[in-house]
Amino acid sequence: MESMQNFLPFTIQYSIDPVTFEPKDEIIKRTLSSMKGAFLDQAAAEQILAKEDPLIVEVFMAPVPAGPGFLMANINVVYPGKVGNEFYMTKGHIHDDPIHAPEIYITLRGTGKLVLQTLEGKFHMADMQPGAINYIPAPWAHRCVNCGDEPLVYLGIFPANTQRDYSFDSSNFKKRIVAQDGQVVAVDNTRAK
Ligand SMILES: [Fe+2]
Repeated sequence: MESMQNFLPFTIQYSIDPVTFEPKDEIIKRTLSSMKGAFLDQAAAEQILAKEDPLIVEVFMAPVPAGPGFLMANINVVYPGKVGNEFYMTKGHIHDDPIHAPEIYITLRGTGKLVLQTLEGKFHMADMQPGAINYIPAPWAHRCVNCGDEPLVYLGIFPANTQRDYSFDSSNFKKRIVAQDGQVVAVDNTRAK
């Protein structure tokens, strides 16, 4: 593991339209086929996949070691679209360390909802739009939903040694964010445990 003494200061240069991010390490791409189970309407997902496998989420990670004492910075993009009436979103996850692993999201472009929930079932929803800085306390699972018609782009900052647990997913989140009569609405998740 890289030592703190040898790690040099650096600057990330990014743009949001289109998204560029340098220097970067990994780019994570999630297409519908890789996260189909996150959406309620499986028939609608199959219909889309019969024609194409759209890119839903893209994450540009900074080249930071995953050790203690380092801060990760990443730019996340949730593309606009829906599966049935449910907006494109991230898979959602919870951090492994409920004390030392909070996260901050800074929205750079687009509009959306940040869906938050604890293991005990406390629920919270926050707006994401340029100007919003969302603070996510360590024990809260989180998912971002793009409710607009342009990419939702946000910067995430969190301890680099954080493990993201994706087993907190669409079977846990109490609400789904859908379009109803042209409105953005949070409805009960009928698949929640
Ligand atoms: Fe996170």
